[in-house]
Amino acid sequence: MNAPRMTAPRAVAPDIDGLGTWLPIPGFGLLAINAFLIHAPQPVLVDTGLASQRTEFLEHLRARIDPAALRWIWITHTDLDHIGNLAAVLELAPAARIVTTYLGMAKMNLAGLPVDRVYLLNPGQSLDIGDRMLQAVSPPCFDAPETTGLLETRNRTLFSADCFGALLEAPAENAAAIEPQALRTGMASWARVDAPWLDRVEAGAFGRTLAAVRALEPARILGSHLPPAEGMTETLLENLDAARAAPAFAGPDQAALERLLAAA
Ligand SMILES: [Fe+2]
Ligand SMILES: [Fe+2]
Repeated sequence: MNAPRMTAPRAVAPDIDGLGTWLPIPGFGLLAINAFLIHAPQPVLVDTGLASQRTEFLEHLRARIDPAALRWIWITHTDLDHIGNLAAVLELAPAARIVTTYLGMAKMNLAGLPVDRVYLLNPGQSLDIGDRMLQAVSPPCFDAPETTGLLETRNRTLFSADCFGALLEAPAENAAAIEPQALRTGMASWARVDAPWLDRVEAGAFGRTLAAVRALEPARILGSHLPPAEGMTETLLENLDAARAAPAFAGPDQAALERLLAAA
């Protein structure tokens, strides 16, 4: 399957640009794949997009910043939709260091990526980028143990990595533009794909992880797989809590795949 064109880079929050695309998932709708650029005295790229869109990703990045000015590349986790253009960006950004955890560094090393420029940061620790702090956080849902989201403290923007994603029927400019029930079911579907362990977590324990997000008081949530969600924290928390009771995800088997391909 060919990757679609990326959407035009755009401001998605104060001092923050989005570099994104909508990836068709045959049989399941569309999934946003978002990277972000934080404009600060020490500029930060959060994740690096899809390798299949490298030329366009780098063009869009260059349209918003001289990559040589980047100081940090924050990798939320080492899945392919987050590290796709990491090596290419590192070449264009010789001053940039990779923010990750020890486990993230190990997985990058196994993937053959350079690790000589990593900067290890654990949840609970913060990074000073000149005019604000980036506080590393562990989101309630994740599909990789090294997952580290971040709270940007100046405008209280929470970058939630894979958590709060949604499988959607159509692209949307922002999460508020999505019909509420479509958002709820889309978030449940994604959560059960990305976190198949979700129904194994006892309600009280999961509730405490949701409360930890609430305590951060984010003004907006920027998910890797959701359009920007401004002032919607309670809705996203409720939807994710409800996802615990959603049906488990099972992908198509070979016969179903052949039917999908024939229909396409
Ligand atoms: Fe992931
Ligand atoms: Fe992801």
